[in-house]
Amino acid sequence: MSQNTGKQAAARAALEFVKAGEVLGVGTGSTVNFLIDELADRKIKVAGAVSSSEGSSERLKAAGIPVLDLNEVGDIETYIDGADETNPRRQLIKGGGAALTREKIIAAAAHRFVCIADDTKLVDTLGAFPLPVEVIPMGRGYVARALMRLGGRPVWREKVVTDNGNHILDVHGLRIVDPVSLEMAINQITGVVTVGLFAARPADVVILGGPGGIKTF
Ligand code: 5RP
Repeated sequence: MSQNTGKQAAARAALEFVKAGEVLGVGTGSTVNFLIDELADRKIKVAGAVSSSEGSSERLKAAGIPVLDLNEVGDIETYIDGADETNPRRQLIKGGGAALTREKIIAAAAHRFVCIADDTKLVDTLGAFPLPVEVIPMGRGYVARALMRLGGRPVWREKVVTDNGNHILDVHGLRIVDPVSLEMAINQITGVVTVGLFAARPADVVILGGPGGIKTF
């Protein structure tokens, strides 16, 4: 079974959490693209979607699903998104697709956050995947030095500009034993827009697809 098959299986399994007629929160990435493809089949007709990136918005619109403004919609029932890593406590690293800020906003506004991924994303300790941090461009150097003091090795994701017009630093070399504390510490650095640690508000459900089938926790 390829990684893509696991992603597709997880995306299909997440349909169980989608209700007809609701406004669904939709994340970003290849796993979410499988979800959008499933929604495009219109077996479950949602009223619309709140999207975490311009890329997902385009795909949703192409599938005939109206994309709505979170400000108009208010809180939503369910948000479905992928992850770069998850630990057994459903704390995540996200932002490999540079959409972490809008992802965090929708996760915060959602009553239920369902994470879908292939089972290679499950780790005991977060941090093997470099931790993405979105920064205000003029603060990039300052934030990088502060991240080094926290024990990381930040690398500028050159040529990437987020949908919000900001830069991304990928922080290598972290072994994240206390994700909530690190999330709070990085949030305190002036110039940081968002850190891709989803620990204070973890996923409520994680669905992993792999050779052994679907695992939900
Ligand atoms: C985008 C993300 C994605 O959810 C994450 O990168 C996983 O992507 P994929 O589903 O392609 O493996 O956080 O910012």
